Parts: sequence; C-alpha cells; structure tokens
Amino acid sequence: MHTDYRTYYKNNIDAIDTKWHQFTEIQFQWILARLKLKYKPDALFSVMDLGCGTGRLLSLIHETFPNAHLSGIDGTTLMVFRTQNRLPFGAQIKKNDLNTYHLKNRYDVIISTTVLHHINNPGAHIDMIGECLKDDGVAYISEFAIDTPLLKIANFWWSKTTPDHKTTWSTQQFIELLNKTSLSIKDSDNLQPNWFWQLQIYECKKKAA
Ligand SMILES: C[S@@+](CC[C@H](N)C(=O)[O-])C[C@H]1O[C@@H](n2cnc3c(N)ncnc32)[C@H](O)[C@@H]1O
Repeated sequence: MHTDYRTYYKNNIDAIDTKWHQFTEIQFQWILARLKLKYKPDALFSVMDLGCGTGRLLSLIHETFPNAHLSGIDGTTLMVFRTQNRLPFGAQIKKNDLNTYHLKNRYDVIISTTVLHHINNPGAHIDMIGECLKDDGVAYISEFAIDTPLLKIANFWWSKTTPDHKTTWSTQQFIELLNKTSLSIKDSDNLQPNWFWQLQIYECKKKAA
C-alpha cells in the first residue's frame, strides 16, 4: 500500500503530544518567549502556523495572547480537526497541501516547526513566508540539525523509511539555504530536547527590499 505523510501522521497523531512532547515543547517555549518580548498580553496580531500538527503551539499562543487571530494549515485531515477542536471559534484552520498552496493574506507572525523536511521546494516555501510576512512581521522556523554522526546515520535511516522525508540539513546548510531566501536571521539557537536530538530554530524577518 502506498503511504505518504498523511497516512503516517494520521496513524501517529497522538504521539505528537505524548511521545514527542519534550521535543516539540522546547521549540514552542522558545517561540513563546520571543513573542512575549514583542507583544503585550492583550495585543492584536495575526499568526499563521504552516503544518500546524495537533495545534498545540496555536493553543499556547491563544492562552498567552487571547486577542491574537489564529490561522493554521495542515495536509492531514485529522490534524486539522484536532487543531480546530482545541482552538476558539474564529480560528481559521484549513486543510491544504503546502507543496502547492500559496498564502492569500499577510501575517504578523508565520511559523513552520519541523515541517520543511517534508516540502518539495523548501527555498520557494521560505520565500513565500517572506512574501506573506508584514513588513515588521516575524517568522519562526525550526528543523532537525543533522550535525552529529549519530543524527547523520539516523537521518539516512529515516530517509529510507519515513514517508515524504525529503530534505534535511546541517546547521551550516540550513543557514546557507535561509540566506538565499527573502528572510534574514534575527536570532537562532540549537535546542537539545535530550541527548540524541538537536534542533535548529530561527527567528527571521523580511529582508529589506
Ligand atoms: C513533524 S509534524 C510537525 C507538526 C507541528 N508543526 C509541530 O511542531 O508539532 C509535520 C506536520 O506537517 C504536516 N505536513 C507535512 N507535509 C505537508 C504538506 N505537504 N502539506 C501540508 N502539511 C504537511 C503533517 O501533516 C504534520 O502535521
């Protein structure tokens, strides 16, 4: 049977908030800490989470900034339902394929956490993020950091066994990719949820025209 990321994530949806909790939470707290520096708790701003998964990050943003206008896109139907169910009425969560979909609006905040490795043309996708960011907007992007020998071996295995596992990057390679796009890096980190995993995470703004 043919499987793609949708089948994989439908079958593993509960693992995202349980088995992977430590892995996702460290990224979400990094992003929330930076949003708290930028916005007051009652601020009105728009957020788009591309590949929003179960919607946990959007729900944390809602808890912290109840007036934020929340949007999300995911290609897995069950992820869209899960996200809709944990957010207030008015949040706009849609099912779309990020390989072909182009955002229709501009946002104050655009987020992509560990999604780019599934995308056919990550450079073009990042350019779309830059295009759809308001002039003073901010983008948060994370990916695995394939920097250690162990992660290089594991990555080879995932590329053979995980559906739609397309591209991964060392930190140096990912910075080179970002530098070729319409975004520029404001802040970055290497996050280590445990002894094995390493994540690269970036706060970006639009490059000056
Ligand atoms: C590793 S999960 C990350 C979820 C969430 N961003 C997080 O950090 O918890 C990847 C997500 O991207 C979605 N996804 C992967 N490829 C996609 C595509 N081409 N279009 C839309 N969504 C996609 C999957 O359904 C899944 O929810």
